[in-house]
Amino acid sequence: MAYLETDAQLEAVRQFTKERMADDETGHGFDHIQRVVNNVKLLLARETGANQLVTISAAYLHDVTDDKLVEDVTAATNELKSFLTNTGFDDDQIDEIVFVIENMSFSKSLNGGTPKALPIEGQLVQDADRLDAIGAIGIARAIYFGGHFGEKIYDPEIAPREVMTKADYRDLSNETIINHFYEKLLKLKDRMNTKAAKEIAAGRQQTMLQFLDDFKAEWQGTK
Ligand code: ADP
Ligand code: NI
Repeated sequence: MAYLETDAQLEAVRQFTKERMADDETGHGFDHIQRVVNNVKLLLARETGANQLVTISAAYLHDVTDDKLVEDVTAATNELKSFLTNTGFDDDQIDEIVFVIENMSFSKSLNGGTPKALPIEGQLVQDADRLDAIGAIGIARAIYFGGHFGEKIYDPEIAPREVMTKADYRDLSNETIINHFYEKLLKLKDRMNTKAAKEIAAGRQQTMLQFLDDFKAEWQGTK
């Protein structure tokens, strides 16, 4: 793939992101970003019609203004816009990147709000982000996140929550790592936007289902 004319811009975007994500310990570190970028390049090779510079930039930047990571979202967004202007992005590209990163996250779809329709570039980044939450990597991230926030591994007495608001989703007081699979991770496969992502997600779903089967059998001592 030839990204030549935009290489310098993408390198600047990579650096900008790396400086801001380095310290995160909740599964949103730069390693997550790099995997999302890799995923989105894989999807770009299989889905035509998207602007590559906007898509890959939005993949890098999708978490840098998130309220999980920054205290002041407006200030972080303004800083991002100035950076993009100084890096040679035009106003339409900047508006699209900011729109995508403000509207693609899972929590935006909670609280019953109707999510805004994403352009193809945003659909690809959303798929790439969701792919990084499932499969073998998804299992590792859920355990890492759950350990960091003191969740139990599993408790057969605690049922997975059916419908969740954003506040419920962030309330980890009665949460278990295994329940997170039923509350979110197993549902992501049906929420992929693109055909390419649906195909990859199907394989990763099997990995998670096998893990949950084995986990429960080992828990009960039947395996
Ligand atoms: P995003 O909106 O970027 O997907 P989240 O904060 O929802 O971010 O999730 C970050 C990572 O942590 C994901 O891999 C997700 O599956 C995992 N995670 C989120 N909530 C929980 C939870 N309650 N228990 C275990 N893992 C979780
Ligand atoms: Ni992400």
